[in-house]
Amino acid sequence: MKKLLFGLLIACFQYVKCDDPNIPIVITTWNFLNSTTKAWEVLNAGGSALDAVEQGASVCEEQQCDGTVGYGGSPDENGETTLDALIMDGKTMNVGAVGALRQVKNAISVARHILEHSYHSFLVGELATQFAEEMGFPIESLTTPKSKNLWKKWHNEDNCQPNFWMKVTPDPKKYCGPYSKSEKGYHQASTSDVKVDRYNHDTIGMVAIDKNGDVGAGTSTNGAKFKIPGRIGDSPIPGAGAYADNAVGGASATGDGDVMLRFLPSFLAVEEMRRGASPTAAAETAVARIAEHYPDFMGAVVALAKDGRYGAACHGIHQFPFVVHDLTQDKSRTEHVLCS
Ligand code: GLY
Repeated sequence: MKKLLFGLLIACFQYVKCDDPNIPIVITTWNFLNSTTKAWEVLNAGGSALDAVEQGASVCEEQQCDGTVGYGGSPDENGETTLDALIMDGKTMNVGAVGALRQVKNAISVARHILEHSYHSFLVGELATQFAEEMGFPIESLTTPKSKNLWKKWHNEDNCQPNFWMKVTPDPKKYCGPYSKSEKGYHQASTSDVKVDRYNHDTIGMVAIDKNGDVGAGTSTNGAKFKIPGRIGDSPIPGAGAYADNAVGGASATGDGDVMLRFLPSFLAVEEMRRGASPTAAAETAVARIAEHYPDFMGAVVALAKDGRYGAACHGIHQFPFVVHDLTQDKSRTEHVLCS
């Protein structure tokens, strides 16, 4: 604590006036220290918030953070890893997003290329791969021996349990597909059947503010383990996975994406801050809105105001770690918030 106060004092003299906003700054979901440090290096060298978010999240994609970001994680029912990512520019309100991306490792960079090199905001699946190939990204398998073994165990030993099917026959609680719909069929998927935790629905979500006060936000994930092929979660959806607006700040979310995307929690957190709420209160409101309807959901929101104040809120786990780096620190710092 003493060190932090001393750091703040030095920063006040060396870099900013004490009443200046605390920028540049970056905040990241979970304990993704290497990504945050990379983003900070970009910001500290005078780089843009968008570059910080892209390069920071790329580190997690390369390092396969928690097995839930990047290639070789969360195989779908066919054993294939597909990626979702988003990047949003709070200065222009432009968005690049990619969903169910196949055979390309650099999901957030593909999203950045959609933002920079097309009029569109969101490309998906096989045709997003085609776009990426045209932009020069290598096409390669996202399957690894680890993801292959994970899928084999799920399919051959665990009889395709858990899965995300409902009201189909044969009984998805006992058998593998293919399934067909059945009004009298079996009802399975709810959050209590499929274990939703940080190793199943984890996302790197990042919000950065650069020295010019420009806000960038972004996400990257390989989604939900054993998802139905074609599934896209909350992470690439603007306002769900992340949102940024220079006039206010930014926010990003992680957790059970199938539920969370119904509530646009990042958008809500930014709108709450616009109405004057603190980042912590804004994140709490976004999380509480979901919990009202889905008391068992697991997820978290981080929020960053344009003056560098930040906060987080979470639900369905004991506590949620997030990482921050600003001028007062020489290392990225993990903080924790207790969940509702
Ligand atoms: N939050 C990541 C996902 O559910 O896809």
